[in-house]
Amino acid sequence: MSEYAVENLPPLVKGVLSKETWNEERRKELLEFFRHEVYGVLPDESSLRIAIRVADERSGPDIMYGRAIRKLVEVSVSRKNREFSFPFLLYIPKAAEQKPVPAIISLQGSIVAADPTRRQIAASWPAETIIARGYAAAALVNQDVAPDYDDNFTLKFYRLFPEFAGKRPDDMMGTITAWAWGLSRVVDYLADDPLINGEIAAAGHSRGGKTAIWCGVQDPRVTLTISSCSGCSGAAITRAKAGEHIRDITTAFPYWFCNNYKKYAADETNMPFDQHLLLALLAPRFLYVNSKSYDSWCDPRAEFEGARQASPAWGVYGFPGLPVTEMPPPEAPVHDGHIGYHLKTGHHFMDEYDWNNYLDFMDIHFRIC
Ligand code: GCU
Repeated sequence: MSEYAVENLPPLVKGVLSKETWNEERRKELLEFFRHEVYGVLPDESSLRIAIRVADERSGPDIMYGRAIRKLVEVSVSRKNREFSFPFLLYIPKAAEQKPVPAIISLQGSIVAADPTRRQIAASWPAETIIARGYAAAALVNQDVAPDYDDNFTLKFYRLFPEFAGKRPDDMMGTITAWAWGLSRVVDYLADDPLINGEIAAAGHSRGGKTAIWCGVQDPRVTLTISSCSGCSGAAITRAKAGEHIRDITTAFPYWFCNNYKKYAADETNMPFDQHLLLALLAPRFLYVNSKSYDSWCDPRAEFEGARQASPAWGVYGFPGLPVTEMPPPEAPVHDGHIGYHLKTGHHFMDEYDWNNYLDFMDIHFRIC
């Protein structure tokens, strides 16, 4: 029996993934569990006033050789006389003017990847390829929403919550929750854009993959959640994984999570949850998990196990989750279930091979033709 097998896990983990134990109450309970114990709760959300506007819109020969419309969009938020805003970049294929298209949002870790001049084109966001294949491509830079260092919860999005600066309650949001909130604001815009057909994917790599999962889990408008090498506290089963564990991640990046998460570092074996339960919260919507073969810090096998063990939740809704039970070899993508999967030879990175596979998966399951 695999060391990751459900049979080895404590009751909460075992109990959830069957027709008998899975229901909407259970889903709510689990979601609250991950909110309060892992990623943290966004306080007082109803007090946020949000306005989204297109600051600049262009098309013509300078924008992807006339193939796309480019929009620079600004999200402004206020709360109790404090304001904060952040931009995101969106390309929509011109063809969407005839027939609306699906969109794919990517959370990026650097402004270089989301360069609106396209003088620099990063492999982690091949917007030209996405447009050529008929999809709209949006990019959000994580640090535009919240810094990726411990700022004592004072800057960017956190400016809106001065009462918590430097004194976070134990279940209050960490940065992954703030970034996921930012991704959902991009979803707000896309859900209202008449050129988008309502099918929306959210993708991220590594810390961005953890965030895409957390966004997809909380936001039912996300049709497909894409996790590239999200590893520990992402798609990977934590127990018995190789590489990073809760102690490592909450020591190096304590601000990504709520303080409560640290409780589990000392005894992962007996914690009442594991990451497949988080992935199961995406059912019956689409999920894509991919890994790189040499990425031992993430542990490709533990990521595959996360997807495999979440899979029965799709069965409850009558859909195939991950249609394989053995981990496929590198360069052998699996696209015919509601959970897509591939492993690629290589190191911790998200590249054009990965993107083309996401788009292949979307070609099968989305209304692209
Ligand atoms: C670190 C961290 C990982 C994270 C990665 C990344 O390696 O330990 O959990 O996924 O950074 O975001 O690239």
